[in-house]
Amino acid sequence: MTIFLNGEYMPIEEAKIPVLDRGFIFGDGVYEVIPVYSKRAFRLEEHLHRLQHSLDGIRLDNPYSMDEWTAIINKLVAAHQDEDQYLYLHITRGAAKRDHAFPNPPVSPTVFMMSRPLLSPLTALLESGVCAVTATDNRWLRCDIKSIALLPNVLLRQTAVDAGCAETILIRQGIDGEGDFMTEGAASNIFVVKDGTLIAPPKDNLMLPGITYDVILELAAANDIPSLVRKIDVAEVFSADELLMTSSTKEVMSITKLDGKPVGTGKPGAMFAKLHPLYQTFKRDVMRAS
Ligand code: PDD
Repeated sequence: MTIFLNGEYMPIEEAKIPVLDRGFIFGDGVYEVIPVYSKRAFRLEEHLHRLQHSLDGIRLDNPYSMDEWTAIINKLVAAHQDEDQYLYLHITRGAAKRDHAFPNPPVSPTVFMMSRPLLSPLTALLESGVCAVTATDNRWLRCDIKSIALLPNVLLRQTAVDAGCAETILIRQGIDGEGDFMTEGAASNIFVVKDGTLIAPPKDNLMLPGITYDVILELAAANDIPSLVRKIDVAEVFSADELLMTSSTKEVMSITKLDGKPVGTGKPGAMFAKLHPLYQTFKRDVMRAS
């Protein structure tokens, strides 16, 4: 498997990084996951834009221009035979003497990218939906940065796996008398459906601004599906008609069981039945047009 590391393409077995890399020592870096359909990166500009936002958030210069990123990505995608892939792109502040403060003078960042086959969710799971659990969102206040420091997400996601479920829905505790509210999943964005309306939490500092989340809201707008973006009270999650989760690797999936109880009818509902095919058509059409 060919990977990209610091300007070079090489077999993954030959890729080496110093143990003092700040990604390894501090989790001091950011990442992106970009889906590739029919060998073309999906929503590349948006992913690179979010990467810039993450880099700005950790005060790290972007090592490449948009054109340079595009060239690297195209070369890596071409080196893999799968039509559908997902790119994992990872940048750290580089290797330096261990000190929390930034290296001064700065050192070269570490830039790593790999591509893996992208497998669509199993048909059986699309038909049955998946189960989720809820947990307190105990992460920091910059969840809009796609940080490689994912220990809270790792622990939260494992809670779902331990319960035989696919995802953990995160509930933030309200402050100053405000009620508890839903932010996102441990590795996905979450939508609530009530009375035919798709409701999404706002893109603020408490959630990752999902690229798939944007596509879903755009598809809703273009297809006369009522949608709202607003804070979602925890009670609305438990009384939802449907719950949907979205991510670059899972696309859109229906959550049909929450904390052991059925969501709505306990089966994927009308909103999922509309949005899933719309997403499939959209991604193939975009790729054909590009
Ligand atoms: N995760 N929220 C969190 C915390 C995520 O980790 C992800 C994606 C999303 C969805 O964002 P997008 O639609 O842009 O993929 C929301 C990726 C897939 C991962 O870490 O593997």
